[in-house]
Amino acid sequence: MGPFLKNTWYAAAWNHEVSVDSPLARRILNEPLVLFRDTAGKVVALEDRCCHRHLPLSQGKVLGDVLQCGYHGLEFDATGNCVAVPGQTRVPPGSRVRSWPVIEKYQYIWVWMGDADKADESLLPDWHVMDDPDWAVVKGDPPFQIPCHYELFNDNLLDLSHLAYVHTKNIGTVAVPDFPIVTTKTANTVRMIRWILDSPPAPLYAHFGGFTDNIDRWQYAEAMVPSFNTVRVGCLPAGCGAQPGDHPDNFSPKSGGRNAQGFEFYNLNAITPETESSTWYFYAHSRNFAQDDPNMDEEFRHELRAAFQEDVDILAAQQMNMARHAHDPKDWVDINVDGPGLALRKMVVDAISAEH
Ligand code: FES
Ligand SMILES: [Fe+2]
Repeated sequence: MGPFLKNTWYAAAWNHEVSVDSPLARRILNEPLVLFRDTAGKVVALEDRCCHRHLPLSQGKVLGDVLQCGYHGLEFDATGNCVAVPGQTRVPPGSRVRSWPVIEKYQYIWVWMGDADKADESLLPDWHVMDDPDWAVVKGDPPFQIPCHYELFNDNLLDLSHLAYVHTKNIGTVAVPDFPIVTTKTANTVRMIRWILDSPPAPLYAHFGGFTDNIDRWQYAEAMVPSFNTVRVGCLPAGCGAQPGDHPDNFSPKSGGRNAQGFEFYNLNAITPETESSTWYFYAHSRNFAQDDPNMDEEFRHELRAAFQEDVDILAAQQMNMARHAHDPKDWVDINVDGPGLALRKMVVDAISAEH
């Protein structure tokens, strides 16, 4: 399933996972990283392998602005340079570990795994709804660690017909695949829009919106290379008049007040390869209704985690079969709903080729 794109940001952790007290170990693109905060609160990402005898530095201690190895006490600064060796004044030449650029934004800790001089904050997805006071955020905490290749999850989030088969207890209904998708592309994004018109609400939609009659519902998925997936979903009472491909902004509640009869929420997904066969999944939900209601927070936390666990189980089972039978995507049979996922896969392949 190929190498990884290096010159891009990946979510490495939630902001609250990285503390000044203890280092956090996390493998990203097969590289062992250790994350910690310095005295200024800035997050540092170093190689999780001491240059002396290779103990993971995550087993050491944060001492102010340095990370001290837990075996023989070598100390490393934010750039990865060893700055102190106990019992001697001389630090041997070449005593250093790798470091990676880090940004803390939208409540995520992002690391740049490629050339440091190419790291560019403007290449992050625009996920300002994570910080917008008009929106209430519930983070998927802890992140899921899924035994699957990360692109299986891109496929999943760009093909929401699966709600009819995987999520009928919560966010899906059997009507979903009956409605066509409209796919559009830019240089590095794929967009999929589906309107599910005049259909009964899924169980959680009925609950969140108090609907008893049919609704019109939209799914608007936008995926950016390599694996930032934004899924905007929402609904209105049936009869809104949307046509296939209409942008939900023309129908959804406008800023300054929600439509009393409808709602929408953003599902933001940062999918980070851990290895070729395992993936970190950082998801969040940002909603513009019942923002100050802690009960609604709890419902989003529990009900949607239960729904996403259903995806995790599917992806793990898929990966297990693919590993067992040495499947190659070239051998797959494709159907219409695969269009957006295949388009993103092609963009990722092209971006990786351009790096080499
Ligand atoms: S292994 Fe890190 S100081 Fe020896
Ligand atoms: Fe799903």
